Amino acid sequence: MPEIKESTIRDIKLAPQGQLKIDWVEGHMPVLNQVRKEFEQDLPFKGKRVVVCLHLEAKTAYLAKVIQAGGADVTVVASNPLSTQDDVVAALVAGGIRAHAWHGATAEEYHQHIHQALDSKPDYIIDDGGDLVSTIHQERRELIAHVQGGAEETTTGILRLKAMEKNGELGFPMIAVNDAQMKYLFDNRYGTGQSVWDGIMRTTNLVVAGKTVVVAGYGWCGKGVAMRAKGLGARVIVCEVDAIKANEAWMDGFQVMPMLEAATWGDFFITVTGDKDIIRGEHFKVMKDGAILANAGHFDVEINKVELKALAKKIRIVRPNIEEFKLADGRKVFLLAEGRLVNLAAGDGHPAEVMDMTFALQALSLASLATVPKPLPAKVYSVPHDMDLRVARLKLEALNLKIDELSEAQRAYLANWAHS
Ligand code: NAI
Repeated sequence: MPEIKESTIRDIKLAPQGQLKIDWVEGHMPVLNQVRKEFEQDLPFKGKRVVVCLHLEAKTAYLAKVIQAGGADVTVVASNPLSTQDDVVAALVAGGIRAHAWHGATAEEYHQHIHQALDSKPDYIIDDGGDLVSTIHQERRELIAHVQGGAEETTTGILRLKAMEKNGELGFPMIAVNDAQMKYLFDNRYGTGQSVWDGIMRTTNLVVAGKTVVVAGYGWCGKGVAMRAKGLGARVIVCEVDAIKANEAWMDGFQVMPMLEAATWGDFFITVTGDKDIIRGEHFKVMKDGAILANAGHFDVEINKVELKALAKKIRIVRPNIEEFKLADGRKVFLLAEGRLVNLAAGDGHPAEVMDMTFALQALSLASLATVPKPLPAKVYSVPHDMDLRVARLKLEALNLKIDELSEAQRAYLANWAHS
C-alpha cells in the first residue's frame, strides 16, 4: 500500500470510483504508456519533487502517475476549481500522490490550495494557464531559486510566460508544450472541437442541427469548434480580429462578421480567443431570446459576466451548469458553466486519445529538463522537433499505421536547388 500523504481533498472514500476512471483512460493512452515504461526504467525524476497544476480529471491524473513512476514525489493542484473531479483526486491520494483540490473551490480556497501545493518546494512544475508560475513569481519568490524548470500546457499560459521573459522577469526555464505540433494540431483543434460540443450537448440536451453557432476566435481551438459545429448541421458564423484568420474562416465556408452583427443571429455562442470581453453588454442587448453562451478559452473573462448580471432582472439556475438571465424586456439568455471552459467545467475534457500526445509531450519535456547536465537559462523553450516527431511516430505505431520513407534519391532531389 502506498503511503498516504497529507492532502486537502473532499473524501478519500471516493478513490475506487476515481481509480476506475483512471484505468479507463490508461487503456486509451498508448504513447503515454510507452513513456511510463521508459520512466520506470530510467527514473528521470528520482528524488525530485514535482507540482502538477492542471484540470484534475482522469487523463491528468494518469500523467501525474507517470511522473510518479519516473521517481518523483508528486503533488497535484487544480488549474480551475470547476473542472476538478473529487473521485479522481481521491484515487491519486490513495496512490501516494499529494493533492490540494476540490470541486467548486472558492477563489480563496483555490488560492490557498496553490500555496499548499507550493509548500512542497517543487524542483519542477507543470502549469496550465500560468497560475502556478505567476504565484511563484508574485507571492512565493523564495521558491524561484529552487525551481529548476517546468512545462506549460496552454496558449494563454505561454502568452503570460513570453510577457515575463520579455520583461526579464521569468525566474526559471519553461517549455512551451502548447506550441508543439503534436499538441496544438490535435489537442486544440480536434480535442477542443469534440469536447466543447460534448460539454454543450450533455449540459443543454438541445439540438445543434439547423441552429446558428457563433464562434469567436478562429485559432486552433476555434477552427475545431467551428468544424464540428458544421458537422453537426449548424450554420456557423466566425468573429475574428485577425484579417488572415478571417479570410481562412471564409474560405473554410463560414460567415464572417463582427460580434455586434453576429449577436443578433446566434443560437449558440462559443468564445475561444484567450482575450477578454468578447461578448459584453452591447451584445447581450441585441441577442435572440433563448441564446446560449459558452466559453472555451482558458479564463472566464471572455463573456463579461458583470455586465450580464447588471442587465438581468432575475437570475436562476435552471439545470446543472445552466444559469438563466432574464433581461428587462423578458428575453432570456443562458450562460453555461459560469463562463468557465465548458468542455472541462461541464464535461470530461478532451478525449484520452488526444491527451495521449499532449501528456506524452509534457512528460518528455519535463524529463528533458530533469536530465540536462546543467540547468538551462531562464527562458521560454520550444519542444525540440525531434521530440514532436518521436511522439508522432509512437502514435502512428499505436494506431498500426505505416507511412512511406524518403529514398536516398528523393532526399537528394529535395535538397538540390539546381535541378531542372
Ligand atoms: P490561438 O492564438 O490559436 O487563437 C486565438 C484566436 O482568437 C486568434 O485567431 C485571435 O486573432 C482571436 N482573437 C483574439 N482576440 C479576439 C477578439 N477580441 N475577437 C475575436 N477574435 C479574437 O489560440 P488557441 O490555441 O485557439 O487558444 C484559444 C484559447 O483557448 C486560449 O485561452 C487557450 O489557452 C484556450 N484553450 C482551451 C482549451 C480547452 O480545452 N477549452 C484547449 C486549448 C486551449
